[in-house]
Amino acid sequence: MTKPQIWVTIVLVLFIGLFMLARLTKEEQVHSDSSMMGNMPVTEEPLGELSGMQLLSNFGCLNCHGSQLEGSSMGPKLTGLAEFWNRDRLINYLRNPGSFMNSDRFKEYKKKYPNMIMPAYGNKDVKDLGKIVDYLLEL
Ligand code: HEC
Repeated sequence: MTKPQIWVTIVLVLFIGLFMLARLTKEEQVHSDSSMMGNMPVTEEPLGELSGMQLLSNFGCLNCHGSQLEGSSMGPKLTGLAEFWNRDRLINYLRNPGSFMNSDRFKEYKKKYPNMIMPAYGNKDVKDLGKIVDYLLEL
């Protein structure tokens, strides 16, 4: 082989080597991505056939908010909410209650229910949360 031929061969081999390496690392990436999925919070299947009140019972809301949503020592009543909430904000609240803690309404609740924390329901299907909210805003 002449000198230029040797160089061309070296460059070619390098390219092929790099190409294979890139493919290998890409496969690893895809692999680790799919294994990460296992750790992500999985949204639950919608419980479409249940009514708003059944969902409230099913999700354990009544344990703290009272069997008739009249409130208990563990959580405020859930009636008359439409004065303060609209549909979108209330769904957001259920998904992430912590982000509303700075409003006066919640400073008040903090004093009234010092040891209780309203759980986040971000893992629930949004349609189910929407159904709960539609139900609550009518009360
Ligand atoms: C472990 C008890 C507990 C459970 C379970 C619970 N909550 Fe709460 N919830 C609270 C407390 C306590 C507050 C008052 C805010 C705070 O201190 O975090 C609250 C506040 C709220 C508010 C705001 C009330 C207002 O006057 O603005 C809504 C709406 C609400 N909860 C709905 C729900 C729904 C719907 C569920 C079920 C999906 C639920 N909660 C489950 C304890 C609970």
